[in-house]
Amino acid sequence: DWNSGNVIAEQVERIRAQVGGGKVLCALSGGVDSAVAAALVHEAVGDQLVCVFVDHGLLRQDERRQVEEDYVTATGVRLVTVDAREQFLSALAGVTDPEEKRKIIGREFIRTFERTQAGLVAESAADGDPIRFLVQGTLYPDVVESGGGSGTANIKSHHNVGGLPEDLQFELVEPLRALFKDEVRAIGAQLGLPAEIVQRQPFPGPGLGIRIVGEVTGERLELLRQADAIVRAELTAAGLDGQIWQCPVVLLADVRSVGVQGDGRTYGHPIVLRPVSSEDAMTADWTRLPYDLLARISNRITNEVSGVNRVVLDVTSKPPGTIEWE
Ligand code: XMP
Repeated sequence: DWNSGNVIAEQVERIRAQVGGGKVLCALSGGVDSAVAAALVHEAVGDQLVCVFVDHGLLRQDERRQVEEDYVTATGVRLVTVDAREQFLSALAGVTDPEEKRKIIGREFIRTFERTQAGLVAESAADGDPIRFLVQGTLYPDVVESGGGSGTANIKSHHNVGGLPEDLQFELVEPLRALFKDEVRAIGAQLGLPAEIVQRQPFPGPGLGIRIVGEVTGERLELLRQADAIVRAELTAAGLDGQIWQCPVVLLADVRSVGVQGDGRTYGHPIVLRPVSSEDAMTADWTRLPYDLLARISNRITNEVSGVNRVVLDVTSKPPGTIEWE
């Protein structure tokens, strides 16, 4: 029967056998899969592993700190953080088309990772000990999906930050290939990873960049980060994290509506709440959140986030709506 301790012991043996004394690279996305995969590899080969975390400026509040401080403290991994916020913002300037945003974010991520990786490879080659392996947090459902050959339609170009160019000269290390998501979480918990990371709900690779309908700017990102943090805090306080699949919070930057607040008239942006229940994100239903919770979230967002004067609830299932708005 399944036991996370046994899986860890078995994977540690396998990783050691595959990697030997070689050096290993891993891109951390802030998500569960890459975090657990890297922790397993670190357990197996220690400082032969180096992790790279790209801050593209599209992260949620506190995510970078959770990786840089909490995760590093829990695991002891060697981490290189790349601050690419300016680069991503300027690449996204003036862009409003969702698919174009996704392509730009994917392209900039790969560029950034390749640049960093080239630096690290050069450094380790100079030591006469090149980096030969790359960790990927591939799960069993990903293996089935890509090997199944059923040719599913590409409705949105899915980009995983952590999904990497194919022509890299690395051998892949994929310690989660036989596992499902809940098993990965159990292993992460057993390895002592922070709960904020292990219990994290799905978050798209392109991050908040595809949760701003309209152009992505630094100011809008900051506003959305505040609203998103309020929603997450209230859902957690209400004990509802286990009942929802995820709750995208979307800023309609291209829409303004008239409101009244304090001394007078406002002309601000709406925030959309998109709480969904799902088994696998292929289909989803909108979650019937309690009205008093919705009221609290709405009050807090309109009072605390300047520039937002309306909160609306998305009551569309998937299909016909997708979970994300872009
Ligand atoms: P949609 O919007 O297609 O989303 O119903 C289904 C699930 O996938 C997530 N999602 C992404 N995840 N890269 C990712 O890693 C992406 O580009 C991406 N787009 C959507 C979404 O959050 C939901 O869980």
